[in-house]
Amino acid sequence: YAIGVDLGTSAVKVLMMNQKGEVVNEVSKAYPLIQEKSGYSEQEPREWVEKTTEALKELVAQFDGDVADIEGISYSGQMHGLVLLDENNEVLRNAILWNDTRTTEQCKQIYDIVGEKKLLEITKNPALEGFTLPKILWVKQYEPEILEKASVFMLPKDYLRYKMTGQIHSEYSDAAGTLLLNVGEQEWSKEICDLVGIESSLCPPLLPSHGLAGTLTPEFAAETGLAESTKVFAGGADNACGAIGSGILQDGKSMCSIGTSGVVLSYEETKDRDFDGKVHYFNHGQEDAFYTMGVTLAAGYSLSWFKDTFAKEESFESLLEGLGDVPIGANGLLFTPYLVGERTPYADAVIRASFIGMDGSHDRIDFARAVIEGITFSLNESIEIFRESGKTIDTIISIGGGAKNETWLQIQADVFNAKIVKLSSEQGPAVGATMLAAYGCGWFGSLQECADVFTAEDVSYEPIPENVEKYKELFKLYKDVYVQTKGLNE
Ligand code: XUL
Repeated sequence: YAIGVDLGTSAVKVLMMNQKGEVVNEVSKAYPLIQEKSGYSEQEPREWVEKTTEALKELVAQFDGDVADIEGISYSGQMHGLVLLDENNEVLRNAILWNDTRTTEQCKQIYDIVGEKKLLEITKNPALEGFTLPKILWVKQYEPEILEKASVFMLPKDYLRYKMTGQIHSEYSDAAGTLLLNVGEQEWSKEICDLVGIESSLCPPLLPSHGLAGTLTPEFAAETGLAESTKVFAGGADNACGAIGSGILQDGKSMCSIGTSGVVLSYEETKDRDFDGKVHYFNHGQEDAFYTMGVTLAAGYSLSWFKDTFAKEESFESLLEGLGDVPIGANGLLFTPYLVGERTPYADAVIRASFIGMDGSHDRIDFARAVIEGITFSLNESIEIFRESGKTIDTIISIGGGAKNETWLQIQADVFNAKIVKLSSEQGPAVGATMLAAYGCGWFGSLQECADVFTAEDVSYEPIPENVEKYKELFKLYKDVYVQTKGLNE
């Protein structure tokens, strides 16, 4: 058996699978976000450890086999979050998360000091509020006494792994989202550390995602009931693990994942493709491979915001009942999902969302359809960037909340003008994490061989030419809304 720990933004999920790729059991535990000011988003690292311990304890208690047969554990983690540890490896402040947008000023500093060209050359990514380096610089500027005490920085799942093994590591796929990694060379960039004035000793040693980080500490094993000999593998960024768990392991494969945020990502065999920083370019969890990715900040969040605001007591199923009966274009209603700003293609933390074209006759379901179409349009902006740079995107694996509704899957096929494939059983990034443990344990010769056993395609949705044409027209209007409403919130 192997376990995948998916340390998400709202909850941790632990998943146990056997060597045939069957799910044995899963347990999930939620934890809160701390949002003290607008734009702030923090969590207490202690909560991640406590909730993961509880979840693993339950998983083990419900397991009727021999715990010694649970061979390996690995991780999928929410990306970019900053955890700072002092010389005794104690946490110095709350973690500042990926969806925290307080660092616009620090992003500007990075461009001023490093220069956009050099930053793209080394890190392959632009300076964005969500990434880790701007958060370190924010602490340096506003809480200098804390940075002075820091001996190492960690990413969320790396901290959790440290508490489980006593070993301090990071790995390439998550390190890629810090703006401190030379992504192509797969090593920390001393040059960037020196330029921005932070000690390169703050960067933890790096492993590949399937690399062995250690075994469980006696304390953690005793608390959860797991065997001390359980091997612990480094794991990957949630998006890299989502890609692994969906079999995005070869050139030509792409994925659309709609969770709180939404991403469209595509496998890259080499470090050499040039997107000019318009989409993210990160190290994959598969050795020496990469992926490119565009992000919609409020994807699933737009829909849950809509539900919580206008249909709090109802389920998503009842909210979306009749979605397929509303015509394309939601009877003239258009939504842009910029509730917390937008990442790709604008990197704009200030822009806010809008409904345009409201009519007295519109029902709630028209609004729901507009929200879903708006989220999908936003993701299509990333696909457009991939295509403009010469990539062929004709088939996309759809996972997450967006794959739960058939009408939405068809909307994705029509807006993206690509075949959309749904997986037969989908556990998201937790499967990718489990696969890293399975591969690390030596059950398979490669991640692809593991994917052949662990993932299976189910239904697919072909684009309908007439719908594709209608959406092309609407997409032009959708893009105009950004231009016209920019400035409203400045
Ligand atoms: C990716 C990003 C989000 C987080 C969510 O750059 O910020 O997708 O990984 O956990």
